[in-house]
Formats: sequence, structure tokens, C-alpha cells
Amino acid sequence: MLRNEQRHALFCWKDVLAESGLEQALTRDPEAKPPEIARRFQVFLRMFGEGLRVEARELQACIPGEVLSTLETLGLLNRIGNNVAAAYRLANHMGLWLFSEKVSPQAKCYYGNDSFELSRMLIGAEGNVLDLCSGVGPQALICARTARHVTAVEIEPLAAKLFWINAAMNGLTDKVEFLTGDLLAPVAGRKFDVISCNPPFMPVPAGVPYPVFAGGGSDGLDIVRRLMAGLPEVLAPDGRCEVVGAVLGDACGPDLAAFKKMAAESSLAIIVDCRTREELEGKTLKRLVGMAMVEGKDEEVERAFRNHFASLNATHLYCFLLHAVRAPSPMVCSSFWDGSGMGFRMESFQ
Ligand SMILES: C[S@@+](CC[C@H](N)C(=O)[O-])C[C@H]1O[C@@H](n2cnc3c(N)ncnc32)[C@H](O)[C@@H]1O
Repeated sequence: MLRNEQRHALFCWKDVLAESGLEQALTRDPEAKPPEIARRFQVFLRMFGEGLRVEARELQACIPGEVLSTLETLGLLNRIGNNVAAAYRLANHMGLWLFSEKVSPQAKCYYGNDSFELSRMLIGAEGNVLDLCSGVGPQALICARTARHVTAVEIEPLAAKLFWINAAMNGLTDKVEFLTGDLLAPVAGRKFDVISCNPPFMPVPAGVPYPVFAGGGSDGLDIVRRLMAGLPEVLAPDGRCEVVGAVLGDACGPDLAAFKKMAAESSLAIIVDCRTREELEGKTLKRLVGMAMVEGKDEEVERAFRNHFASLNATHLYCFLLHAVRAPSPMVCSSFWDGSGMGFRMESFQ
């Protein structure tokens, strides 16, 4: 946890960022126009946008002393002689400022396009919110703007540091709690109106070491399966659960068998809206292989992925947004692109 004066300094830092006009430059919006940044703040663009070292005196000219020293004390900026470098990536996430790490197999904290996809579904969240697999807090903090209270659960202890820094920077510390632990274990016995989860969801063959933030087991659904199984215990009667993830399939559509089992076992209506469809070849396969935590064995790892997908008859990966609610009779509804048009499937069970 941070001291009061550190929280205050981080909040002032956010005001400096707002004044700088850096928001557009560090947003994930690819349509955003190139920003116009005042000359004295261009140092931020070099440091956070381009990852360059800058001269300490340039920062001293635009950041109040106590703010600059707090950023250094918290390890957000590294001083090397007369130069300073950003220790973390800084992003503007739908109006919130977030420190996170650059995505790599060695990173402990993740922030990517899927973080944004899920956050969109949570705008205006009300009541008590549970954000699972919270990382540095993009969804938890989006919810904290409108919800009564947000509980974030994350297994990686190092994420706590950036989570609390991000909460303080955005003035949301009083609305959130952060629990380190495994999925639903830290919140046993509690109920929530909104539950969100961006789990590790890449399908990975057994025996290939993978980062904790990315490896979702053999079909990518390990955490989703555990969450759906525990959902009736933690979801308030009129609550909703929002998840982002990926499911294997073929050219004609995603394989929905796993969701049917989850819906039937937990009496849920599960809506699986597939947002992308990628062939498990070329760039997609390279991305999966590139995230493995082994060096110099790309060919071997690629072979393991190819054999694994062949054994599952999977040729495509579909990224989805999943919505789940309690239902008198379980059902699964899905929409997806099947290569020539939109496909829809719906199945309900008694
Ligand atoms: C894809 S990242 C999502 C992070 C953040 N919510 C976002 O959207 O940017 C998945 C996160 O889940 C965490 N995680 C993995 N297994 C977990 C578990 N069993 N319980 C809680 N968190 C877990 C990872 O450490 C990682 O921070």
C-alpha cells in the first residue's frame, strides 16, 4: 500500500499528464489523430512513447519536484547518471492512466487489446464488482468509476504494486480492494453484481512453458471452465459475468462443446460473441510460439503447437466476449464469422 503523500503525488502526476496532451499519443485507438503536444512536454513522448532515455533536467522543467521524486522512489522512473528512463509502459486506457509492462514472455503484468475489449463491456458497471485476473487493474478501475465497490483478484503478487499505483493515479483508491490469490478462492462466501475476467486464454500444448498471464491450458479454457463452475456461488441473483477469451474451432465456426457443458452443469445462459477468426498458421502461429518461455527452440515449439492443434482437429482460433447469467434452463448462444458471412448457433437444454 502507498503512503498518503505518495498517493497525492501520483494524483498530481495524472494532472501533469492531462495538461501535457499525451492522452491521444498513448491511447490504443488506432484511428486517433497524431497529437499536438506542447514543446516542453515532448520529453514525455520520447520517454513513454518511444522508450528513449531523456535528460533529468528536461523532466525537472515540467514535473513538480515532489512528484518526480515519488515517481523515482516507486521505481516508475529509473535515473542513470543525468538521464532518466521509464521503467514501465504508460497507457491511456479509456481515460484512465495505467502503468503496465511491455508484453513479453518475461513480463509479469499484461495489458493488451483484449484488456480494452473487455473494459468496453464494463462501462457504467454498478453495485459490487469482482474483477478476476485483474493484472494492473484496467477493468477494475473502469468499474470503480461508477460501481459501489470493486474487488480485484490476481495471482501474481507483483501486479499489486502497479495496481495500487494506477488506482492512486486515477483517484480511485477508496473504491477498490486488491486480493492476491487463485481465482474465486479469496472471495468465497461473497456475492457480486458484476463479475469480469480476462483470464490467460491461449491454447497451449502440455509441456510447453508459457507465461502465467497467457497460458490457458490445452484448449485455452481452463480458467473459464473453473469460473463458470464457481459462478452460481458468487453471482448475485440478477448479476452478470463478462469474460474475454479464445476458443478453438475450424473454418466453419468455433467448437462450442465446452460451453454447452459449462452451461448445463451450472444452469447458466452463456452468450459467446466471437469477435475475430484467425487461421492457426502464419502470424497467429508465430505469435503463439513466440510467447513460449523457451529460447532458441522455435521449430520444436512450433511442431508441438501444430501436432496439438491437429490432435484437436482445430484449424482456427476465435476470440470472444462471453456474457453469462443465471438461467432457468441452460443455453448457449453464439455468433461468429464463418469466412463468408455471420454464423449463429443457439442451443438450450432442459
Ligand atoms: C490476460 S491477463 C489480464 C490482465 C488484466 N485483467 C487485463 O485485462 O489487462 C491475465 C491475468 O490473470 C492472472 N492470473 C492467471 N491465473 C490466475 C488465477 N488462477 N487467479 C487469479 N489470477 C490469475 C495473470 O497473472 C494475469 O495478470
